Amino acid sequence: MHSFRALREQIPRHGVKPSAGGFLTVAALTSYNKFCMCGLSAETVLWDEARLANPHHQPDKAARVRAMFDAIAPTYERVNHVLSAGRDAAWRRRAVTLVCVRPGERVLDLACGTGDFARAFGKAGPSLVVGLDFSEKMLALAVGRDDQSIRWCRADALAIPFADESFEIVSCAFGVRNFQALGAGLREAARVLAPGGRVVILEFSLPRSRLWNALYHFYFQRVLPRLAAWISRDQSGAYRYLPRSVSSFPDEHCMKGELRSAGFDRVAATTLTLGVATIYVAWKKR
Ligand SMILES: C[S@@+](CC[C@H](N)C(=O)[O-])C[C@H]1O[C@@H](n2cnc3c(N)ncnc32)[C@H](O)[C@@H]1O
Repeated sequence: MHSFRALREQIPRHGVKPSAGGFLTVAALTSYNKFCMCGLSAETVLWDEARLANPHHQPDKAARVRAMFDAIAPTYERVNHVLSAGRDAAWRRRAVTLVCVRPGERVLDLACGTGDFARAFGKAGPSLVVGLDFSEKMLALAVGRDDQSIRWCRADALAIPFADESFEIVSCAFGVRNFQALGAGLREAARVLAPGGRVVILEFSLPRSRLWNALYHFYFQRVLPRLAAWISRDQSGAYRYLPRSVSSFPDEHCMKGELRSAGFDRVAATTLTLGVATIYVAWKKR
C-alpha cells in the first residue's frame, strides 16, 4: 500500500491538502479499530436477526460494516458480478459518464472498496483520483492492482482527512448505505468539494413496478443471501444485511432531501435496470 508519507507527498502536488490533523485521523484508525472492533472478527455473526430488524440504527454499525467487508473482501468482486449478472460494472461506467469529468479535475472516491469505481474514473482523464476506504482487506485488494495513477487512503468517510474544497468530484458506489450516519457523510462530501463541484452516488434501490418489485423481492430476500453466502462461504451475515439495508434505506425522494440538506442545490436521479439501482448526481452550491 502507498504509505501515508507517499500519499502526503503526492497529494499536495495536485493541490489537495490534508486537513489540519487529518492524517492523524488516518493514523489513529488503527487504535480506533482496536477499540471499536472488540470481539468483532470475520468469524463473528455480525448481523443477527435482532440487528437486521433495524440495521441503520445500530450504534456500532460502522464497526460491524468494517468487520463485514474485511470478512467478505476476497470474494467481494466475484459475488458482485454473479449477483448483478455483470451489470455492476456497466452501472459504474454509466455513473462516470453522467458526471462528465473534465481534464484537470480531482476525484475522491469514498468507500472505494477494491477500487472498481476509482479505476473507472481513472479512465475518464481527471488529474487525480484518490480512493478512500476504512476496510483494510478491501483496500489491500485495490492497492494490489498496482495502478499507479490512483492514490489510496485508509480513512473514515465521515472524517475525510483532506482540506475543505479539495476536489471537483466526490463519488461513492454502494457506500453511503453503509455509513453510520447518512447526513453526516453527505455533509462531509460537500465540505471537501469545491463550490459547484458534484457528488455522484450509485446505490441499490427498489423497483417501482409492482410485478417487478415482487419478483425482485423474492430474488433479493430469498435467493441472493443463500447464493452469495454459498459462493463466499460467509458466516458474518453480510448477504442478509444487504437486502435488509437496501429495503430500509431512504428512497429517491428522501435521498434528494438528504442531499439538499447537506448543501447541494441541483439534484438529479437516474434509475438503472428497472430501478434496482439509482445514480444521484448533485451539485454543491456556489
Ligand atoms: C459495497 S462496498 C463498495 C465498494 C466499491 N465502491 C464498489 O463499487 O464496489 C462498500 C465499501 O464501503 C466501505 N465503507 C463503508 N462505510 C465506510 C466509511 N464510513 N468510511 C470508509 N469506508 C466505508 C466498506 O469498507 C466497503 O469497502
